[in-house]
Amino acid sequence: MTRSTLKDLLSIDLPIIQAPMAGVQGSALAIAVSNTGALGSLPCAMLDLDGIRRELAAVRDRTHRPFNVNFFCHAAPAIDETREAAWRRALAPYFEEFGVDPAAIVSATRRPFDDAAADILAEFRPPVVSFHFGLPSPDLVARARAWGAKILSSATTVDEARWLEAHGVDAVIAQGVEAGGHRGMFLTDDISTQVTTMALVPQMVKAVRVPVIAAGGIADASGVRAAMSLGASGVQVGTSYLLCPEATTTQLHRAALASDASRHTALTNLFTGRPARGIVNRLMRELGPISALPPAFPLAASAITPLRSTAESRGVTDFTPMWAGQNTSGCREISAADVTRALAGGVF
Ligand SMILES: Cc1cc2nc3c(=O)[nH]c(=O)nc-3n(C[C@H](O)[C@H](O)[C@H](O)COP(=O)(O)O)c2cc1C
Repeated sequence: MTRSTLKDLLSIDLPIIQAPMAGVQGSALAIAVSNTGALGSLPCAMLDLDGIRRELAAVRDRTHRPFNVNFFCHAAPAIDETREAAWRRALAPYFEEFGVDPAAIVSATRRPFDDAAADILAEFRPPVVSFHFGLPSPDLVARARAWGAKILSSATTVDEARWLEAHGVDAVIAQGVEAGGHRGMFLTDDISTQVTTMALVPQMVKAVRVPVIAAGGIADASGVRAAMSLGASGVQVGTSYLLCPEATTTQLHRAALASDASRHTALTNLFTGRPARGIVNRLMRELGPISALPPAFPLAASAITPLRSTAESRGVTDFTPMWAGQNTSGCREISAADVTRALAGGVF
């Protein structure tokens, strides 16, 4: 049996998925990419139910092309008071320096896929649904399948790819360690298992029969061709879209991406409790980048958020998660359509 191509599987013209990027984009980026013939993605991890409905309505209104809706599917953690107290003690000097009152900290949330979100999706029937951190319960996956959605999820190891295939995904996103944002790792939390896109894609292609989508470090047409020649059926690209006018990337994040600072990224668990790749800043230099202190995902973000907003109001990015991959050479202030066409390079 031959592996189906990504273009056939998802009914798209270009074998390119714009990576869902919670916190730095909404429907505008997804719409622009889908209208160019690739697959635009709407990240829902940081939206409430009204936000999901509003953004889905905008996508439905402004494109007739296929699009992807993306969710995190972590188990919500119980609050561990001892760990929370240790984390706040570690941050105490910063609270003092920036005049932040720890008593005013609000618990951070990242919405995992659940029945309420599935109810809204059922109204819009998105043709593609992708997940990060594994898969939700089989019942929830079945709900998305009920209207014929193709199901994708990220895998960071060959074992995770096999697990996802065994649990019925239509394609696996091979997330190399170069990738910006959160690692989709879900069978292990050992960072030494995380390998490059170049090493991961060919091993995954051998291990599973479903299409493999390469993600991480791809920033131009030659990167796309390289991934395809390793056996990938398509690519998922995030970082290269961060400076597009359709993205909601903040000015401080944009400035860092456009500066030499963007050449130094690292995996850090300080901002949310899970490892993610971002531009190295003061907090990462002084407490990490990886530390045993942060509470479980997403609770570490609770104590960081007021520090971040106070510092940002002074133009300081000491506590800002500036997610970015290792290859920022594709970051340009051009339209998402132009980024997509540059990635396709007139070939695909
Ligand atoms: C700013 C940012 C936010 C991200 N947020 C998400 C997300 O919400 N859901 C998701 O599945 N992946 C997310 N990712 C990871 C991407 O899916 C993808 O693996 C990565 O962007 C590919 O590597 P690249 O950034 O080098 O192109 C994010 C990546 C970035 C850069």
